[in-house]
Amino acid sequence: MTSEIIQFHDLHPTQADFEREVLTGLRDRPRGIPPKFFYDRRGSELFDAITETPEYYVTRAEIEILQARADEIARLVGTGGLLLEPGGGSCAKVRVLLEGLEPCAYVPMDISRKHLRMAAEQVAADFPWLEVHAAHTDFTRRMEVPPTAPEGPRVAFFPGSSIGNFHPEHAVDFIAAVADLVGPGGHFLVGVDLRKEKTLLDAAYNDAQGITAAFNLNLLERMNRELGADFELPAWRHQAGYNEAEGRVEMHLVSTRKQRVTVAGDVFDFEEGETIHTENSYKYGLDEFDGLARRAGMEPVGVWTDQRGLFSVHLLQNMALDET
Ligand code: AVI
Repeated sequence: MTSEIIQFHDLHPTQADFEREVLTGLRDRPRGIPPKFFYDRRGSELFDAITETPEYYVTRAEIEILQARADEIARLVGTGGLLLEPGGGSCAKVRVLLEGLEPCAYVPMDISRKHLRMAAEQVAADFPWLEVHAAHTDFTRRMEVPPTAPEGPRVAFFPGSSIGNFHPEHAVDFIAAVADLVGPGGHFLVGVDLRKEKTLLDAAYNDAQGITAAFNLNLLERMNRELGADFELPAWRHQAGYNEAEGRVEMHLVSTRKQRVTVAGDVFDFEEGETIHTENSYKYGLDEFDGLARRAGMEPVGVWTDQRGLFSVHLLQNMALDET
């Protein structure tokens, strides 16, 4: 705890994880790097800029839903709970819910340390009545409530369709982990992007200003900065598109020529056209997502979409009986 207006908890996601997972992913075939590593400081800034592009409808559609339904959500969830946000590095959308939910405390958990700290401090400054406990952690590995956070009925918030960045089987595991985190009777409010026309999805991940491309390519720059890699940026390009059969947008970094790259002392040879798979963004039908939730042991208790039917917000509840 180092800040005056928030409690900051370092749950130690380590630099070694980045190096180890990058080297494993580059040795794999096909090659891939987990999307969680996009979010260094620069990557987090670029992601925030993506959400402002005209093509990336996701954020606007979700905020439309949250604003229209905040009261209804608060009625279903109740007030005075402990509001947890895995991956809540920018603490942006939660602002729409705070007045209605009146949580006893807010716990954003994120891997991007500086981004998390700044955003959490800003929320604490803007909502002076709110207790904020920021947890610096890789929530895909470790999701826990800091010991000093107050007790209360728990509600987890996972907006932005970040759940789409998991393979569906891992999404089930993640929902089950959230069910454990919130406990019997606890809620999970989750934003889920919907299946839709390929043209809209392709545009959303290939914005005209090239911000998504810069976000993808920043992963190479991050490896150069932090792992002593020697990726030559002009020899790589961004590729993204909707794979309808798989129900997901795929992002890749494409090697535009045959080349050799050194990363953390290891040598990797790339053919022209070879790719590093950097992200999947799964899109779901409403019933399809409810099916995942039920498989994970949670019950759908509310679902809302925006007016254009692009995006959905689901409220799930852990219906297990409290045996304590
Ligand atoms: C964070 N996540 C849900 C975004 C998505 O749409 O999959 C990340 C992103 N990648 C490219 N654009 C946005």
